[in-house]
Amino acid sequence: MVEPQEDELVLEFFAVKEIDFNGEKRWLGKVQVDKTYTMLILPVEGELLAIHAYCPHEGISLAKAPLVAPHIIECPEHNNRYDLRSGELKGYRVEIRAGKFCLIE
Ligand code: FES
Repeated sequence: MVEPQEDELVLEFFAVKEIDFNGEKRWLGKVQVDKTYTMLILPVEGELLAIHAYCPHEGISLAKAPLVAPHIIECPEHNNRYDLRSGELKGYRVEIRAGKFCLIE
């Protein structure tokens, strides 16, 4: 685990798959908190953001869900839209430290 800064919970992300989505890279991987979660890292307006990889509605993978506006992701199956800033989908800031993705809460 990478050393956390003060007042940060840092989760190490174990990337298992790199995805090319419309010319942009995304990553699927695991983080361990109380249990193991599958997370998706995607670029949002030039910054990396991590969200749970499966939609809370019916569990469809968001790995190839389009951003239909900055910060708005759309379920590819049902076209429901989520604002990534609202907290509706649990999200983390992502920093690359010592060459590793770190999710910061
Ligand atoms: S599975 Fe959640 S909106 Fe489609």
